[in-house]
Amino acid sequence: VRTGQKVRIRFQNNLQETSNIHWHGLYVPDYADGHPRFVAQPGEEYVYEFEVINRAGTYWYHPHPHQRTGAQVNAGMAGLFIVEDEIEDALDLPSGDFDVPLVLQDRRFDEDNQLLYVNNMHDQTMGFRGNRILVNGKLDQTIPVATRPYRLRLLNGSNSRIYILAWDDESPMKVIGTDGGLIERTVITRYITFGPAERAELWVDFSDYEVGTKVSLVDLGEGQPITIATFSVDEVSDVRMTLPNRLRGIDSIDPQQAVNIDNPRSFEFSMGRTPVINNLTYQIDGVDDNEIVRLGDTEIWEFINNVNSGGMMPMPHPVHMHGHQFQIIERTVDPDFAQQWAGIINGYLDYGWKDTVLLMPGETVRVVVRFDHYEGIFVYHCHMLEHEDLGMMRNYQVKL
Ligand code: C2O
Ligand code: CU
Ligand code: CU
Repeated sequence: VRTGQKVRIRFQNNLQETSNIHWHGLYVPDYADGHPRFVAQPGEEYVYEFEVINRAGTYWYHPHPHQRTGAQVNAGMAGLFIVEDEIEDALDLPSGDFDVPLVLQDRRFDEDNQLLYVNNMHDQTMGFRGNRILVNGKLDQTIPVATRPYRLRLLNGSNSRIYILAWDDESPMKVIGTDGGLIERTVITRYITFGPAERAELWVDFSDYEVGTKVSLVDLGEGQPITIATFSVDEVSDVRMTLPNRLRGIDSIDPQQAVNIDNPRSFEFSMGRTPVINNLTYQIDGVDDNEIVRLGDTEIWEFINNVNSGGMMPMPHPVHMHGHQFQIIERTVDPDFAQQWAGIINGYLDYGWKDTVLLMPGETVRVVVRFDHYEGIFVYHCHMLEHEDLGMMRNYQVKL
């Protein structure tokens, strides 16, 4: 779709349970956002109508019924929602066959190749991990490419897995976009740290390779590199393009404009008896005093991954906010963890417009957000879907 277009989506629930659809990253009114209080009962229909006001970018959608998001996404309900606009058109990036979406999802298969989902508390509290990694729903993806530049759009659509992605030949990764579309300038990095729900857009020029070569995207997160997708350079192309120096301006929000600059709102994600935010669990109608903001205000929100709350093992929490995208202004790591996260820190996708930020144990992240779209009740939550379903989610309300 293109920015400025109006869309109407008819969602027919043919499941035996409630469901709905959330448009991850898009600015939409709360009744169209897939909030858990707006679900379609089995057999019912729900019509989503909104205008696409986001800038060009790789957004996505998935169900959001309370306590069933993980199971429904695992069963296959998720997809991309790509937005294009004129500013991006003018950059003439690789398009059509050369603009390749790659949705990464791990899944667990039993001996009969049937999908399995969580069946115990351990899977829930630790987050579900599959035994195979699928790309666009398929195993062992080999993608034929030509000797020319490509734009790759990656989504980590996994329920809980974090990837450390790199090229297997150690070529630098050229990141041109994140959650909310293109960033100002290309970031060159050896690997990217890719948390659940994050997007990364890469520029890759296969004219650096001979025909007949294969180069793979691998996950370094498990010790031994695991192949995610293999690009097989099969065809000669003489199309040459240069990566623009400046990609696209970011309307950067000045933290000094935040109404709470001296006293940011703070949200602590911790593993108590269940995963909680500021010791609270999800209540479908619950909005705490600390969860009411004014339409039009700019605020600083601080997310803390507290590991001192006892009980359970320290866990990462990819923190996601509905309704508004934010910009990351600061990330700090507790010195006790600095060593442990040394192989992760340089790959964070902390630039551009973001809706999800990975928060490792011992980390604190500050973001600046302008609540300038719609009033209403939205959620923010951990995007490890098993944590979300256990209640690591809260409402916040934007009021006039
Ligand atoms: Cu991907 Cu609450 O969303
Ligand atoms: Cu979302
Ligand atoms: Cu979590």
